[in-house]
Amino acid sequence: MSVEVRHIHKTFGAVHANDDISLTFADGRIYGILGENGAGKSTLMKILSGFYLADSGQILIDGRLVHYDTPRGAIEVGIGMLAQDPLDVGPLTVLENFVYGQPVGPLPDWQAARRRFAELAERLGFRLEPDMPVERLSIGQRQELEIIRLLALGVRVLILDEPTTGISAEQKSVLFASLQRLAREDGLTILFVSHKLEDVLELCDEVAVLRLGRLVGTAVMPVTTGELVAMMFGQALAPPSRRAATPGDTVLEVQDLFMASERVVMRDCQVCVRAGEVVGLAGLDGSGQQLLTRACVGLARPLGGRVLINGVDMTGRPYRDFLAAGVSFGAAGRLEEGLVAGLTLAEHFILTDAGQGWWIDRERGRQIAEERIAHYRIMGRPDSPIETLSGGNQQRVLMALIPPAPRLLVLEHPTRGLDVESARWIWEQILARCAAGTAVMFTSADLDELVTYSDRILVFYAGQVTEVPDARSVTVDELGHLIGGQRVGEEAGR
Ligand SMILES: Nc1ncnc2c1ncn2[C@@H]1O[C@H](COP(=O)(O)OP(=O)(O)O)[C@@H](O)[C@H]1O
Ligand SMILES: [Mg+2]
Repeated sequence: MSVEVRHIHKTFGAVHANDDISLTFADGRIYGILGENGAGKSTLMKILSGFYLADSGQILIDGRLVHYDTPRGAIEVGIGMLAQDPLDVGPLTVLENFVYGQPVGPLPDWQAARRRFAELAERLGFRLEPDMPVERLSIGQRQELEIIRLLALGVRVLILDEPTTGISAEQKSVLFASLQRLAREDGLTILFVSHKLEDVLELCDEVAVLRLGRLVGTAVMPVTTGELVAMMFGQALAPPSRRAATPGDTVLEVQDLFMASERVVMRDCQVCVRAGEVVGLAGLDGSGQQLLTRACVGLARPLGGRVLINGVDMTGRPYRDFLAAGVSFGAAGRLEEGLVAGLTLAEHFILTDAGQGWWIDRERGRQIAEERIAHYRIMGRPDSPIETLSGGNQQRVLMALIPPAPRLLVLEHPTRGLDVESARWIWEQILARCAAGTAVMFTSADLDELVTYSDRILVFYAGQVTEVPDARSVTVDELGHLIGGQRVGEEAGR
């Protein structure tokens, strides 16, 4: 069974999550759907598997147009997906879960179901105990159960969305072996969604790369990691020459930091940032960088370890204490955290003006706003509500709100979504502060930005932090390997 998508479009508000995507998938093959977080992979797969309806575009099976708008409808035409986040299941056993997914009469034949389940599990090398309650299964085992259930429903196209997140290495090799058997022996089409290069290189026959909602290209294996990196992140520009850094005293020192989020656990993280130094935090979203930035500005409480600012232990203190210690923070979500929707430009400057008493001086706010608008070349007026400004101008406001010489400046994705000129302007501002002795730590998904502006680069991978041996000579290519979990010079072969 071959599947084709033609000119698929899907928008969520202003986000064009899928922008004219056309792809064909043949049977018996494993396709990698690769792309950074937010590239539009899950959206495309949810459209194929009936969770979303495309705004426009077509789906064809064996050359014939098909229409469906529910997951059940997709399964009826032979397409089934394992969700990125396993669904909640209730107090059923493995076998009950398997049986209740099947289109059977009111009295299921438990003996036959048990046999069928055992057969499928055995063939795929899955060791699942049929009488075990589903809630006691690991993520990997739930995936195995879900694969068996979809196969029993007659699915011919199996979609897996980031299936290797949260499973053990052993479970991964069982999963990969079973997927290979399903493609080679049973002729299924496997669509394997991932942002991990190593997994795609190991498993897939072909790869399609998405970036910012668009199809960047497709390739048949073997391809090199370098080629995939270039497709995922764009071609590297020649970096401008870098200033020589003469770092001063240690401003930020992080010792044995231990933190956890829903997605990642970070242990034994050690970081040191000195005055006048720019330290870039590289890694795919959710690899631990944000845990570190939040701990260093007092917005998240570490489970263990210490955060020192200028030698003073600040661990677990509130944000305002960090502010008082000279720490400034530019958060990733401009409007969610750094700026306040509904307030005007002038009101933002009034609220952050350090000399402000309890009396709010509107006229003074207006003057400050006018000065800063001119100085930071912001396209907006003092009475413009902040949400009416473009992203680049919001980012400029954020920079204008940061004091002229903080001790430590922590920035999350300082130029995300900005045009090249605005991004350069933002960096001029950052580097000017740095030259005046500010210690800078920033996160970015843009490898060019990391390579261009960092004096040192820390790579986050699944909560592990490794320093790039020589950040000044590292290439975008090498950094791409590192953030995908590979070491420099290591090419994943096939
Ligand atoms: N249900 C949704 N509502 C609003 N925005 C969404 C929704 N799903 C995805 N998006 C947005 O669409 C873009 C693509 O997301 P997604 O398809 O999940 O990417 P990926 O799976 O490649 O990480 C992102 O900017 C994301 O924020
Ligand atoms: Mg996704």
